Amino acid sequence: MTKIAVIGGGKIGEALISGLVNGGVSAKDVHVSNRRPERGRELTDEYGIIDFTDNRQAIDGVDVVFLCVKPKDTVAVLAELSDAIDNNAEDTTVISMAAGVPLKSLEDVVSAGTPVVRVMPNTPMLVGRGMCAVAGGRFVSDDQLDQVSELLDTVGDVVVVEENQMDAVTAMSGSSPAYLFLVAEAMIDGGVNLGLPRELASQLAVSTLTGAAHMMLEGDLGPSELRANVCSPGGTTIAAVRALEENGIRAAFYRATQVCAQRSAEIGRMSAGSASGSDEDED
Ligand SMILES: NC(=O)c1ccc[n+]([C@@H]2O[C@H](COP(=O)([O-])OP(=O)(O)OC[C@H]3O[C@@H](n4cnc5c(N)ncnc54)[C@H](OP(=O)(O)O)[C@@H]3O)[C@@H](O)[C@H]2O)c1
Repeated sequence: MTKIAVIGGGKIGEALISGLVNGGVSAKDVHVSNRRPERGRELTDEYGIIDFTDNRQAIDGVDVVFLCVKPKDTVAVLAELSDAIDNNAEDTTVISMAAGVPLKSLEDVVSAGTPVVRVMPNTPMLVGRGMCAVAGGRFVSDDQLDQVSELLDTVGDVVVVEENQMDAVTAMSGSSPAYLFLVAEAMIDGGVNLGLPRELASQLAVSTLTGAAHMMLEGDLGPSELRANVCSPGGTTIAAVRALEENGIRAAFYRATQVCAQRSAEIGRMSAGSASGSDEDED
């Protein structure tokens, strides 16, 4: 069994742990490390995993280390773990979930030859429906990349990408659950504005978003055709679509994805060459 350490059991760390344990990974093979002991205890109570407050102890003897701390902390945390990684008998694969932080910044603080993988996950991992984009570093073998992909398969879909696509990937899948939650929220408020009780408006909006997602995933038609099929000539839906277009919905998404990718690149530049990172926050 692959032994796994998750450094940083916050939102993404928990989503990963939940997906792994519910996806069949033995809880006893999953370690988590946090600064706050109470957070580790919460995760142990919820998932039966083993918690630590010392990152170096947490990675002792593990095959895979997931770094799930904030980007500004990622390089420094890895630097502190470098010799403990070397002390492990087998090769330990390091997987960074941090937005923006380049493979080179990570590889620079561990011994040459340490396999490092960069992953852009998203929070639907919590319910086994995550999207993980994976880019392997210089010392990662095909077998190691396959092992990482297989592990992440238990928490959702996995694609292998080039590292230079990661900023765009962050805009498309890492951050985008938030765009869709915002769309759902706006639809619900629209329903409340029309006089529906909030609970009913919420049920209608969330069920419709889920159904539409299933149609795109499971059917043969793409989003343009599916939308056209709902728009009868002179009907209600085309009137609503026109209002959305007049209010700049497409432009808003072009702009949102662009600033998201730019922000990811900026975080990468801040982390490059700095083991202490920056004080700015992200996500
Ligand atoms: N949130 C998302 O949707 C999302 C999507 C894609 C990628 N990511 C990436 O995932 C990473 C984590 O993001 P997040 O949203 O999960 O952040 P978060 O909720 O703030 O979680 C970070 C966790 O790291 C712990 N931590 C901080 N410093 C630590 C240290 N030195 N040693 C051990 N644990 C430490 C924190 O514990 P304490 O509370 O005890 O300090 C906290 O539990 C980021 O790099 C982010 O770019 C996030």
